[in-house]
Amino acid sequence: MNIFGKVKIGYLIAESSKFDEWVDFAQKCLGLMLSERTEQALSFRIDDHQKRLIIQKGVQEDVTHLGVQLADESVLQEVLHRFDQRGIDYAQGTAEDAVLRGVKAFWTLRGPKDIQLELFIDALHTQDDLETKVSGFYTGDCGMGHVALTSRKPEKMIRFWQEFFDARLTDTIEQKINGVILDVSFLRLNERHHSVAVARTRGSVHLDPIRTRIQHVNFQVLDIEDITASYQRCKDYGFHVVWDVGLHTNDREVSFYVASPSDFEVELGWNPIKIDEALWIPVKHTSISVWGHKPRNPTPAHKLLHEFGQLNRGLKSLKRDEYSPI
Ligand SMILES: [Fe+2]
Repeated sequence: MNIFGKVKIGYLIAESSKFDEWVDFAQKCLGLMLSERTEQALSFRIDDHQKRLIIQKGVQEDVTHLGVQLADESVLQEVLHRFDQRGIDYAQGTAEDAVLRGVKAFWTLRGPKDIQLELFIDALHTQDDLETKVSGFYTGDCGMGHVALTSRKPEKMIRFWQEFFDARLTDTIEQKINGVILDVSFLRLNERHHSVAVARTRGSVHLDPIRTRIQHVNFQVLDIEDITASYQRCKDYGFHVVWDVGLHTNDREVSFYVASPSDFEVELGWNPIKIDEALWIPVKHTSISVWGHKPRNPTPAHKLLHEFGQLNRGLKSLKRDEYSPI
């Protein structure tokens, strides 16, 4: 059974103690709708799903869970069967945790890089209007957006998505930064150009200079003016725009990147191409952007990335082990 096209990113959970900053950031700047605020969690909407981004109260300033939506019961059974065959443990989530995620039921397992991977079929929907500062967000058959990660075990991470979710390689980008080559593989699960991007440093040992489990999560807005207005709001509120507005070479998305209160970045993008399976041939690009995406006041992690070439100490901390289920 081939499940390509029947898999999409559904939700993201991060842990943070900075609830007020997250409300300013996600709702007032990026235009996500705060749909629920409790002592323990913030929930944000971008469409008719009750929850797409959930911030849970906690000490890690990091992404902890990634929800993956499957088309139906047969797809779920197929994926669980594949996990069984490889001896990968999973468990059914509790009813209480399902409500917290805005889904009817879910299955959970320890995924690559210690992100808890959660499988669900049906989201809980709402008929309430989406109150947002932007025109809206594109989701539908493409899912919530995409995530990008740096990995010390990129081959395993890519194989994980290919083996269990029938991911396809859309294209790759090779970018030279101060003498160090960064290779990024873009994997698609459906017609979205990519749902998961895996970045690695070239060489026998892959370094991971990013503290957080994901480097960025992408949300796709409906209008180019959503990009410019959100960009301006982020600057007005003093959030750190890490990469200025630019156009990506491969998915042709116009976007900018801003550091969230928990350090991982959010990419707000507009108008990426969709993949036509009948015509697509994977290609290799040699730069990330056609124009723009210039770094602004680099964060320590970005400075590190840019200074890889001169790096001769502190390598040990970059070699911490990375969990892989396969
Ligand atoms: Fe991206």
